[in-house]
Amino acid sequence: MNHHRIGVIGLGQRIAHVLAAMKEVGWMLQVAGYADPSPVGLPILADAGIEPGRAYRDEAELLGDGPFDLVMIGSPNHLHFAHLNVAFAAGWPIFAEKPIVRTVEESYALAGALAAAGGAPPLFVGLVMRSMPIVREVIARVDAGELGVLVSLDATEHLPPEHGAYLARNWRRRQDWGGSFMLDKVCHDFDIFNRLAGARPAQVASFGGRRIFDSDREDVPSTYEDGSAAYALRDAGWMGANDAFHSDMDVDDHQVAILRYENGLALSFHSNSHVSLQERRWYVAGTRGTLLADLVRNKLMVRPALDRRKPERIDFGTRTADNHNGADQAMAIDLLAALEGERAFPVTPRDSLEAGLTVMAIDEAAATGRMVDCAPMWARLDAALRPSAG
Ligand SMILES: NC(=O)c1ccc[n+]([C@@H]2O[C@H](COP(=O)([O-])OP(=O)(O)OC[C@H]3O[C@@H](n4cnc5c(N)ncnc54)[C@H](O)[C@@H]3O)[C@@H](O)[C@H]2O)c1
Repeated sequence: MNHHRIGVIGLGQRIAHVLAAMKEVGWMLQVAGYADPSPVGLPILADAGIEPGRAYRDEAELLGDGPFDLVMIGSPNHLHFAHLNVAFAAGWPIFAEKPIVRTVEESYALAGALAAAGGAPPLFVGLVMRSMPIVREVIARVDAGELGVLVSLDATEHLPPEHGAYLARNWRRRQDWGGSFMLDKVCHDFDIFNRLAGARPAQVASFGGRRIFDSDREDVPSTYEDGSAAYALRDAGWMGANDAFHSDMDVDDHQVAILRYENGLALSFHSNSHVSLQERRWYVAGTRGTLLADLVRNKLMVRPALDRRKPERIDFGTRTADNHNGADQAMAIDLLAALEGERAFPVTPRDSLEAGLTVMAIDEAAATGRMVDCAPMWARLDAALRPSAG
């Protein structure tokens, strides 16, 4: 296996965890250094026994110190576009965290840059669910036609209070930095739904709000039933706020959405960032069968529509505290295989742009209170992606 020299822009918790997973699955990696004003991922790297390399002044100084086998971007979402542009100009292969960019205009501009670049350098986006064995199984079952034509899909993403409180204190609480609660958290899920649908959303509607981490709420309990402190577990990191209930948060803390795809598939989605029954679940109903994927418990259940025997159940086993259930390690293997030219990475930059734009249309619907017709958005994306447009 080749030895890989890596440069990091934004050495936060996420990139540190991805590097740890890469080491775990056998990458021969050397982190040459990082550009980050306050690298919150350093303790995670230390725990994984990975030397962080040199602290560069900024991304320009880092990128000028090549060659790199991989440049990894793990900055907050509002910086992805700028960091992708400088990394593209430098020309080394790139791994960038999701969401690929934060806004609609950045999506079109990046699409134009991708079209002009023609695939060089390669860009791998950290939509890690694509690498999860349970998700691969769901995609394989749908592609094999086991469910027939997909008719309707119901999905959830419900986070426990500590996770919600972390989002309410971390940079994700601000639209300027994170985009939105849904963009940061569930662009993964909408990437998979788009893939399962084999089509793009045609119309979306959505409602959301901030009724949990709301400074107007009175008598919010601050302890669990056993007396232990609530809402205090994690260091909120870069630009963190002290109090989940009294900050400058301007993103929603719960949101629902309904979508109709171009091929007729109807989808409903429910997310909440403060629940006592954690859930991430996809219920996929087709003309010939039904599938239920429990992403938290890592279990799948499927049965043909006209079959009264017990459903087939698959337990994918691995459960980890980060809820990624081994996905980071699986993605690290996929990334190595893609870099070494053995097989394509499971998600493309175009898929990533479509997932982001889908959630941005949902957020527009929630912000305006109107149903959004997605056709003009896809027309602009397609125009930007055409090679001649660049
Ligand atoms: N794929 C996944 O499952 C997953 C999970 C978590 C986070 N993420 C994504 O990873 C990215 C980072 O999230 P995180 O949880 O690691 O956040 P984090 O707050 O832990 O890390 C962000 C890092 O960016 C650094 N930073 C701030 N300004 C910078 C600048 N100008 N230049 C370089 N670095 C700068 C911060 O100092 C911090 O170290 C986000 O885009 C997030 O959406 C993906």
